[in-house]
Amino acid sequence: MTKLSKRLKSLAEFVLKTDRVADIGCDHGYLSIYLKENNLVKDIIASDINQKALDGAINNIKKSKLDIKTVLSDGLTNIPLKGLNTLIISGMGTSTILHILEDKDKLKKIDKLIIQSNNDHNILRRELNKLGYYLKNEKYIFDKKKWYVTSLFIKDEKKNTKNEIEYGLLNNTDYNNYLIEQEKKIIKKISFIKLNIKLKKYIELWKLKKAISEVK
Ligand SMILES: C[S@@+](CC[C@H](N)C(=O)[O-])C[C@H]1O[C@@H](n2cnc3c(N)ncnc32)[C@H](O)[C@@H]1O
Repeated sequence: MTKLSKRLKSLAEFVLKTDRVADIGCDHGYLSIYLKENNLVKDIIASDINQKALDGAINNIKKSKLDIKTVLSDGLTNIPLKGLNTLIISGMGTSTILHILEDKDKLKKIDKLIIQSNNDHNILRRELNKLGYYLKNEKYIFDKKKWYVTSLFIKDEKKNTKNEIEYGLLNNTDYNNYLIEQEKKIIKKISFIKLNIKLKKYIELWKLKKAISEVK
């Protein structure tokens, strides 16, 4: 049985047994194998832009004896999207993720995106709202001394609030405290000579604390 890191497991928690999924940027293929092995999805295609990474996945899939298709593809380019309803994209930066999702036509049948971006989560949430995906759930995972954000977007014209776009769903006290501490660290590093910048950062911290206090 495939053992997954806490980080990868958090992606698996957002799929349904009826989902037909493409794992974009599958690398070693562990997540695809885990999902199929545990019957957590109906179908899964593992894909990567890098032949070497995909070869690793193909090798691991062969060993698992599971029926998982693999495709060499830059984003959605070569993925047979017919019949798929879910994309998983994790371990990349927001700009790469948005590049993968830029072809609106290809997203027509995709009603669910499970995403773990390395950075710029506010930009990701804002741009996905524009593409017609609503942030429904978010998990904050502390794994190997690092925080990760796993987001579930569903196709819905409903828009997230300004605070949800800027800060996320803020549904984890430990993560909220981490965000506050990060802001405090930044403020501490700014010299009093740059008072304007320091003040701006204090206001940002105040806004963050206010947003956290307003979450029910
Ligand atoms: C850091 S790994 C993450 C692997 C796995 N998804 C995870 O979360 O552990 C990023 C993978 O994404 C692949 N990748 C980067 N850009 C891509 C693109 N445009 N289309 C498909 N795969 C891509 C890389 O080759 C690499 O294997």
